[in-house]
Amino acid sequence: MPLLIKNGEIITADARYTADIYIENQTITRIGVALEVPADTEIVDATGKYVFPGFIDPHVHIFLPFMATHAKDTHQTGSIAALIGGTTTYLEMCCPSRHDDTLEGYNLWKSKAEGNSACDYSFHMSVTKFDDTTESQLREIVADGINSFKVFLSYKNFFGVDDGELYQTLTLAKELGVIVTAHCENAELVGQLQQSLLAQGKTSSAYHEASRPVQVEAEGTNRFATFLEMTGATGYVVHLSCAAALERAVQAKTRGIPLFIESVIPHFLLDKTYAEQGGVAGAQYVMSPPLRDKINQKPLWDALEQGFIDTIGTDHCPFDLEQKALGADAFTAIPNGLPAIEDRVNLLYTYGVSRGKLDLHRFVEAASTKAAKIFGLFPQKGCIAVGSDADLVIYDPSYRGTISAKTHSMNVDNSVFEGWEIDGRPSLVTVRGKIQVRDGKFVGDGSRGKLLRRKPMYF
Ligand code: URP
Ligand code: ZN
Ligand code: ZN
Repeated sequence: MPLLIKNGEIITADARYTADIYIENQTITRIGVALEVPADTEIVDATGKYVFPGFIDPHVHIFLPFMATHAKDTHQTGSIAALIGGTTTYLEMCCPSRHDDTLEGYNLWKSKAEGNSACDYSFHMSVTKFDDTTESQLREIVADGINSFKVFLSYKNFFGVDDGELYQTLTLAKELGVIVTAHCENAELVGQLQQSLLAQGKTSSAYHEASRPVQVEAEGTNRFATFLEMTGATGYVVHLSCAAALERAVQAKTRGIPLFIESVIPHFLLDKTYAEQGGVAGAQYVMSPPLRDKINQKPLWDALEQGFIDTIGTDHCPFDLEQKALGADAFTAIPNGLPAIEDRVNLLYTYGVSRGKLDLHRFVEAASTKAAKIFGLFPQKGCIAVGSDADLVIYDPSYRGTISAKTHSMNVDNSVFEGWEIDGRPSLVTVRGKIQVRDGKFVGDGSRGKLLRRKPMYF
């Protein structure tokens, strides 16, 4: 059945106007004022609401064997939580470890998602080693529709690559037109600092930040930029958390190195004092790069507003408190990661737009449009235009609510934003023209999502 979204205030990265949107067969086919439509059209009145392009989370972990356990969501639970929060597409990190076969890993990650996702999705393919089989396998994966790789400069002996492997990955990526996303922390420094802290009896989550200080991230960011300069590849720093790393990344950008910057919502709102609580309450807030001193938050907000930070993701990676307790005797054993997929858009809107820190168009650009452009999904995704997929978020800015693990849909028993207030939420969400969320409730069948195949992008 065709769908008409009537009288909403359409907000994109570069436009704001009131109009009707008509959708047939998954696609926006008309935009205009007082559109005439066939009698069998379902009509949604969006008067008084914003209509945003579906939001895109460029960095999530759904299936993830990691640190002696598994991240808690499945595609069923994670995609429903994403949609309730207005995210209609996510890019999952496909992360076989360096002891696994790369292609087998890719097929395993694909099989976990296929038929199980309510929202659209694709993968960043992690390159966690570079041996005799890697190049041909990566060529096969790119031919299957993946145009982004992921490297970890941290997590030595598990996901991490050394400098030689980084160079080989970037050289191949340049040839293939693939962008390389990177977790930028110096693995050697992290290992040494962790051992030194533990040897001094500093075992609680309070020391996690001290084991990965801002210099460790600044070095990783700078090294990644240097390797991009040497190879000519295009890069994307994930979850940049602090002013020191930002300075290195912006220096690289202004020197003309093709480097995009992602930051994630926890680093804008939470600080290291949460992890300093110790015990499982502190472990709940352990992620890497760590939550930082609060002084880093203003530079992040400013860089976001000014466009130096390109995208806002979540790095969604949920663990129950029982899993977080695995690190009771040593912070190095706390599974790293926080849940956020459901809350990103509402938090960015509330604490960015609503509190006057972020322009409404920059909000749309950073949470949707720019990711679509960087990762080869634009203009299918990330905009409201005739011919684009009808992924739409009808957003009610008058809604008032409170985040809680008791009411969220993520498959995890805690929320790092427990009790935080939100000034708005999606009241209706469509994925390719089918309504998936009404009044905050998921109403889809859970299998609407499809794998988005993306072509190489020669930046
Ligand atoms: O702490 C984090 N970020 N966990 C997920 C894995 C990663 O580094 O992205
Ligand atoms: Zn990471
Ligand atoms: Zn991550």
